[in-house]
Amino acid sequence: MNSNSLVSISDISKEEILHLLENARYFEENPNHKILDGKVVATLFFEPSTRTRLSFETAVNRLGGRVIGFSDASTTSSSKGETLKDTIKMVSNYVDLIVMRHYLEGAARYATEVTDTPIINAGDGAHQHPSQTMLDLYSIYKTQGTLENLTITMVGDLKYGRTVHSLLMAMQYFNPTFNFVACDELKMPIEYKEFCDQKGIKYTEHKDFSEEVINSSDIIYMTRVQRERFTDIMEYEKVKNLYNLHNAMLDNSKDNLRILHPLPRVNEIDQDVDDNPKAYYFQQAQNGLYARQAIICRALNIDIKEVQKS
Ligand code: CP
Repeated sequence: MNSNSLVSISDISKEEILHLLENARYFEENPNHKILDGKVVATLFFEPSTRTRLSFETAVNRLGGRVIGFSDASTTSSSKGETLKDTIKMVSNYVDLIVMRHYLEGAARYATEVTDTPIINAGDGAHQHPSQTMLDLYSIYKTQGTLENLTITMVGDLKYGRTVHSLLMAMQYFNPTFNFVACDELKMPIEYKEFCDQKGIKYTEHKDFSEEVINSSDIIYMTRVQRERFTDIMEYEKVKNLYNLHNAMLDNSKDNLRILHPLPRVNEIDQDVDDNPKAYYFQQAQNGLYARQAIICRALNIDIKEVQKS
């Protein structure tokens, strides 16, 4: 396994997270740098994506590298039965870095075991989405001026939501207080609650997305109920409309509150929230470009201090 791979947010230390955030800030101020000259990056997306794939590809382009890959695995030889192992081994022959999204939990870890080329996990099933976490942390830091001592309310699909799982783990270093708002079917899985218990992280669980919860929050992290994760469509129909944020619900919220969402949204944030200055989800997606530029440089052992001198 290449030690520069990023499969889970727990692969990197607090110091590395803070370093990546510093570098994201640098790239926000200096997005165009031809430091990937001669490098080729593969984006292998076995699951649909808009933001993650396009922001990784934009990041490579802005850094002067080249991108190959696919956004639809049905056009590749995996549709003829080629295994993930063979696909990864083949693509590794061509590129310096692989960014991969896969519908199976553990697929990214498995990929690191069959190649020495660094792998960035762009989402594996309901498991982890560490590059999303870096842009989430960057967004939280930019809007709050700190990552420390914040009350973060996670709402919606906490069972299958890989973005909330990764963010929860990353926040272990910053003394958060979590509100988990979900119905029984989509509750935060026990292993993540045990993780909180082990790390001394405070959390409370709620079925009701109440005024009290909203008004205590520094960050509200909304999530989509993901139809693609349900095996029983009737179960999805039962829970898909349970949590919806409307502008009026923010009337007595804290001034510093910001609404985050990894996107795409369906109906969990009403469009009347979009013009509220507390809505931050589109800027959050923009921050993905800078965070991913920093992550790519880490994966390719590129020292930003040297870049800054050039
Ligand atoms: N947040 C996120 O992963 O979005 P995409 O599915 O569009 O990549």
